[in-house]
Amino acid sequence: MMLRNQVAIVTGAASPRGIGKATARRFGDQGATVAILDLDEAAAGRAAADLGGGHLGLACDVRDPAQCRQAVEAVLERFGRVDILVNNADVSQPDRLMEITQENFDLVIDVSLRGSLNMAQAVVPAMQERRSGCIISIGSVAAQIGGGIFGGPHYSAAKGGIHSLTKSMARELAPFGIRANAIAPGTIDTDIFAGKLDEKRDGIVANIPLGRLGSADDIAKGCLFLASDLADYITGVILDINGGRFMH
Ligand SMILES: NC(=O)c1ccc[n+]([C@@H]2O[C@H](COP(=O)([O-])OP(=O)(O)OC[C@H]3O[C@@H](n4cnc5c(N)ncnc54)[C@H](O)[C@@H]3O)[C@@H](O)[C@H]2O)c1
Repeated sequence: MMLRNQVAIVTGAASPRGIGKATARRFGDQGATVAILDLDEAAAGRAAADLGGGHLGLACDVRDPAQCRQAVEAVLERFGRVDILVNNADVSQPDRLMEITQENFDLVIDVSLRGSLNMAQAVVPAMQERRSGCIISIGSVAAQIGGGIFGGPHYSAAKGGIHSLTKSMARELAPFGIRANAIAPGTIDTDIFAGKLDEKRDGIVANIPLGRLGSADDIAKGCLFLASDLADYITGVILDINGGRFMH
């Protein structure tokens, strides 16, 4: 068991075929107790129940710092500690530069980047007290190659912000024994693109050296590695999991 007795929070993990749910499952299988945070309480509860007994599903809009603090307090009250945070919640929009409205810019930045900050601020005091912890944030290859296939410039900017936030947190939190890393997934077969993936599948796969789209579990395995003590000397990295689509 790689995460025996650990308590993990995974945001945006109610989506049944999503990266968050796959990560929560990997964590649970390795002995962690998992709190799934998502917009809809019933969906979060169902996702937690799917993992087996003893896990928790909570409603939390990560855009709201008060809701993030309340959710973390509920986890601490129930399980007594938080060892791992995975910042996974997000929305993706394909808008091109001139189509981005102020409202959509705020939405994408707020869920992805502000949400990651809000959750980090909510868990860090408890992690500092224990002088140990691990924060993993999901970035994107879109921030590395000048945009995504389905994510517009605001999405790429939010993900670039996550990569930078991760490195800054890694440096600031290292003296407290808290590691901060990010994963930059390539194109992963989930429901975030609302059915648009199938139309473009062949063209996308043609540019992936390993010859297939990524699966949610490909990213979950990276999260498990970064959360485990196999990675206990790794902080501040942006781990590429993209089938070789982008090498640098
Ligand atoms: N799928 C890909 O190809 C891909 C590529 C690169 C990065 N990513 C990133 O991976 C992560 C997971 O993506 P996915 O494909 O599993 O997406 P998904 O759409 O399946 O899951 C996203 C989840 O976030 C939740 N969410 C949205 N707004 C929220 C909010 N304000 N508060 C709390 N939860 C909220 C949604 O309800 C949903 O359950 C995201 O950060 C995404 O940007 C995905």
